[in-house]
Amino acid sequence: MSLMINALQEDAISLYIHIPFCVEKCLYCDFVSYKISDTEKQNSVETYVQALKNEISMYESLLRSASIKTIFIGGGTPSSIEGQYILGIINHIKQYNALSNLMEFTIEVNPGTLNDEKINAYLSAGVNRISMGVQSAQDTLLKSIGRIHTFNEFLTTYKGIREKGFENISLDLMFGLPNQSIEDVEYTLKVITELAPEHISTYALKLEEGTNMYRAYERGEITLPDEETERAMYHLIEKVLKEKGYEQYEISNFAKPQKESKHNLVYWENKSYLGLGIASHSKIGPLRFNNFSNFPHYIEALNQNLKPVEEEIPIERDEDLFETIMLGLRLNKGISIEAINTKYEIDFVEKYHTEIEKLKIQKLITHHIETDRIALTALGRDLSNQVFLEFMKD
Ligand SMILES: C[S@@+](CC[C@H](N)C(=O)[O-])C[C@H]1O[C@@H](n2cnc3c(N)ncnc32)[C@H](O)[C@@H]1O
Ligand code: SF4
Repeated sequence: MSLMINALQEDAISLYIHIPFCVEKCLYCDFVSYKISDTEKQNSVETYVQALKNEISMYESLLRSASIKTIFIGGGTPSSIEGQYILGIINHIKQYNALSNLMEFTIEVNPGTLNDEKINAYLSAGVNRISMGVQSAQDTLLKSIGRIHTFNEFLTTYKGIREKGFENISLDLMFGLPNQSIEDVEYTLKVITELAPEHISTYALKLEEGTNMYRAYERGEITLPDEETERAMYHLIEKVLKEKGYEQYEISNFAKPQKESKHNLVYWENKSYLGLGIASHSKIGPLRFNNFSNFPHYIEALNQNLKPVEEEIPIERDEDLFETIMLGLRLNKGISIEAINTKYEIDFVEKYHTEIEKLKIQKLITHHIETDRIALTALGRDLSNQVFLEFMKD
């Protein structure tokens, strides 16, 4: 292990904590998570949480010195394990950092997996934002993608969380699903916006190799909406959510005023975050590193008192600049030319003069003179990868 990872320093960081368990594996999902009943339930959850605490202790000096701005406990399904484990993890962090600068603390939950014990533990831990996957308001679609819950079960969970006083709830929706029509998306948007969640993330289905859905597609058992239909779904989402008072602030994310995800903004603004747990990724200053994504490897490293880091990559300045541009352009407000010039000591407009002019002529980006920011246009959001490639210089 190089010296860099043992001498991490940063003023402000965010924490991501991965909980790799789910009640069932959804057919489309390739996140690192295990079906909880397959893993000798209690035993492996306990082994995992203990390993995670050991990992946290290994970052004691960083945790003591940095100001922790946001925490995101994701998965997997963090709500598939008992609430006391979540509370235990947070109390472990509190030995090193009082979390007095915490602005946002999110936990991901699945419909049908919450109870009072879990919610009370989240409240004691300081959770102030819940992110829940609903994907669709139609039971046939939910069933066809392997979700464990019906729409009514989602509603019960949603109302339960509200009754417990949570005032910041984010819902995940998916589009481009097998047999999903534009009318289906319209129906889901109507029903979901009536609930008035503070934040909505909408993801186009990504057919991931190695998933059951991928195999079904390869066998010709399912058909997916064509690209044009998928784009029409996306445009419908943008239109309806705008009408309902949500501001689109990122390609896939919509929020009521002041309710943008502070944690996700850290990623898009290319700031520092520490990922804890199996398969998590970190970026602290000029260093990027990621943990083992294999359960035994992760546990074994920690048993030997080693950081479970599989790979550690120092980030060159040009690469960091490209990432700042690419991630920043995902945001509707785009990138601040002045901030980039100051951070990288460059003249951004001069360096990328040809690319900027070309993209402007293609109507993929616009230069907002008043704020001196460059942002994607609506067409640019559709063709974002093409835009990002233009800024990739070797
Ligand atoms: C890590 S999952 C966690 C949420 C929680 N486990 C749940 O499913 O309710 C975060 C979100 O990613 C999205 N997602 C997962 N796999 C996807 C895929 N292959 N394509 C598009 N979106 C996906 C889903 O909307 C999901 O809610
Ligand atoms: S989408 Fe969520 S519940 Fe489904 S397998 Fe992935 S992480 Fe688990």
